[in-house]
Amino acid sequence: MCTPTMWRQVTRMKWKAEFELGVEPMDATHREFVTLLSEMESCAGEDLGHRLEHFAAHTVAHFDQENAWMHACGFPPIRCHTGEHERVLRVIFDVLERVRAGEVDLGRRLIAELSLWFEHHAATMDHALASYIRATGYHIPSATAGQPLQRAAAP
Ligand SMILES: [Fe+2]
Ligand SMILES: [Fe+2]
Repeated sequence: MCTPTMWRQVTRMKWKAEFELGVEPMDATHREFVTLLSEMESCAGEDLGHRLEHFAAHTVAHFDQENAWMHACGFPPIRCHTGEHERVLRVIFDVLERVRAGEVDLGRRLIAELSLWFEHHAATMDHALASYIRATGYHIPSATAGQPLQRAAAP
């Protein structure tokens, strides 16, 4: 359970206006990403493993979503962007294993690094993708990584 007395960082990852890229499903997924990161910054060590597990699953869906859009709209630098997604996922799953083995501080470092990584990735690769989607008029589904289409369609 998370309590304020267990916080290890004074500042928390917060949504910023510059994260808005003008493609709503992408922005909505990014809001979820920032919320999950922020929650992990302030949670107790014993909660970190399952929160990181949930975050990893969300990030797989987040990146799958963008990768599918890139394929569908013919985004030219697709290999650069999908390659970056693959590298980040490898790090997340490697650290997840180590957090499960008790390396909680490593998990904390990952969270701090991912906050910095996201600021850069959103401002560069995701910004370029959003601009391309807007310029080409490619229509993307409205589901987010947290609420994929298959779950949204379930009764
Ligand atoms: Fe993204
Ligand atoms: Fe991306």
